[in-house]
Amino acid sequence: MCNHAKHFFERGWCRFDHDPRLSAWVDAALGAARASRLETAQAKWLRYQETWFAGVNALANDASGNVHDSGPLSGAAIDFIADALGLRDFVWDAAQVSICYPGYPQPMPGESPGRTRFRRERDAAHVDGLLPEGLQRRRHLREFHGFILGIPMVEFDAGAAPFVVWEGSHEVMRDAFASCFEGIAPALWGEQDITAAYHAAREQVFVNCARVEIHARPGQAFIAHRLALHGMAPWRDGARAGPDGRMICYFRPDPFGPYEWLHHA
Ligand SMILES: [Fe+2]
Repeated sequence: MCNHAKHFFERGWCRFDHDPRLSAWVDAALGAARASRLETAQAKWLRYQETWFAGVNALANDASGNVHDSGPLSGAAIDFIADALGLRDFVWDAAQVSICYPGYPQPMPGESPGRTRFRRERDAAHVDGLLPEGLQRRRHLREFHGFILGIPMVEFDAGAAPFVVWEGSHEVMRDAFASCFEGIAPALWGEQDITAAYHAAREQVFVNCARVEIHARPGQAFIAHRLALHGMAPWRDGARAGPDGRMICYFRPDPFGPYEWLHHA
């Protein structure tokens, strides 16, 4: 087991050094990422008094990751996904273009102080795919991402609203969801209200798991385990970024269904 795999499976994330293949992809894709930020149809993704552009599926890449003649996504991180995670020949989703600006996060008009505080003090920690539904925001398993791949598109400081992950939280979450879904056919998992178990597991993670901020530069990449608790830290005073802000493209393809989401490595 190479160091990346050991780190990833134990801690729930790993970072890859600069790779010229990924760097070439970033150079080619940057124009499209910038363009997505300015498209009228994408303006709905501006949040928190315009301190975050969520940009979900905003990048115009195809199923290979190709955009603006970049060629398919490639590099050490993609090799890792194929070799260590055993995931290949899946459809790459349209990347999220996540852009943060100084001052993140400002309150949303009308939201409760608790939600504002959770974003500021708990990095809006969440597990992907457990969507809040209805006014009561009851959590249901609806999406089955294989992993979260983060690709920084520009330079920015480490304090510029970094990605945050709680180390080892993927196994805490796996245990919690396995208990929730025991004896239930995977096709029915999405119908279960798992809010209470999810919140309890999240509290357990806050107490027992180390919180780590991940910084990376263009040409580097990081991968978070699909079951890991993660979020985005507030923009620290004095942290700098260029006019593009803290721009990171995230790929979160869905290569399998609910059973594999829970039990795959
Ligand atoms: Fe997420």
